[in-house]
Amino acid sequence: MAEEVVKFKVTIDGIPVEVDPGTTILNAARQIGGDIVPPAMCYYSKLEGTGGKCRTCLVKVSKGSEKDPRPMPKLVASCRTTVMDGMEVQNITSPDVVEARKGVVEMLLINHPLDCPVCDQAGECKLQDLGYEHGNEGTRYEFERRTFERIDIGDKIQLHMNRCILCYRCVYVANQLTEEREHGVLNRGDHSEISTFIEKALDHDFVGNVIDVCPVGALTDKTFRFKNRVWFTKPVDAHRNCPTCAGKVTLWYKGDEVLRVTGRKDEYGEVEDFICNTCRFETKHTSDWTLEEPTPIDHESVIGANHYLAFNPPSVIHENKKLQLANEEQLARTERLK
Ligand code: SF4
Ligand code: FES
Repeated sequence: MAEEVVKFKVTIDGIPVEVDPGTTILNAARQIGGDIVPPAMCYYSKLEGTGGKCRTCLVKVSKGSEKDPRPMPKLVASCRTTVMDGMEVQNITSPDVVEARKGVVEMLLINHPLDCPVCDQAGECKLQDLGYEHGNEGTRYEFERRTFERIDIGDKIQLHMNRCILCYRCVYVANQLTEEREHGVLNRGDHSEISTFIEKALDHDFVGNVIDVCPVGALTDKTFRFKNRVWFTKPVDAHRNCPTCAGKVTLWYKGDEVLRVTGRKDEYGEVEDFICNTCRFETKHTSDWTLEEPTPIDHESVIGANHYLAFNPPSVIHENKKLQLANEEQLARTERLK
């Protein structure tokens, strides 16, 4: 007889869900989806061992489990706390969590410059979203912010350490996707910084993924820097037969020019597949790719704000009946959701 599969019942903000033992609260919330999912600046489901660094995912456990219903005494990091059977969790329904998240945002912004108007990440920055949703108008911090010189990590990536929130995601990429780790976090506390030790260039086929995983504009693509604002571009999903990676990407068009290539991201801003440097940096012509469809964009995202692109899209869309129809459908859907 087949063994009965054990599931744990958890309630998050009053919504019940059944998950496998060992699931974290964050991932249980992701199974429910929507507004009750805690924000995550350092956890990255595609990289092992991430999480526990930024504290943006704090939640309140108001009932520990069916066996031991006592609440947990402090807020916990939902990306690092596994569920128990009968657990009850509060996220947006807890004023304590909302207040604590405000404090975390204030802390993350202590050293982060407010340079969104000139930052390439603006419009797709997780800290910008978080600041908008939970931030205070001003800071209580009176000291000077930490400042660093920009560092070129190889010829395609730039590190702007002023913006780094020390989430460690890029370090895990270097650890897990490349054979040798040449960069990491040096020093501790207020002196911590991402460094390539002797500023040695990270030279590996998959190292471009540090750009995609960085939640802020600390690691940027030098081939795209200052070329355009993301909301003036039109993302289109495409693939190619790549011998090194899955070759599934998003092409970011302005007119008929591919300004940049990134991995495809899911609703939590995490890439679906890591892509190689050749796909990212060397294949920027429409002829290199088979186009699939205009990338679905969340209707609340600023990236979809320029609807004129839906009416007057790049000619690659205009000339392709299938892409044109998909584009129109997406626009209609967005309009309906408003
Ligand atoms: S550079 Fe970006 S990815 Fe790396 S630790 Fe800093 S914020 Fe995180
Ligand atoms: S996402 Fe949980 S601590 Fe950063």
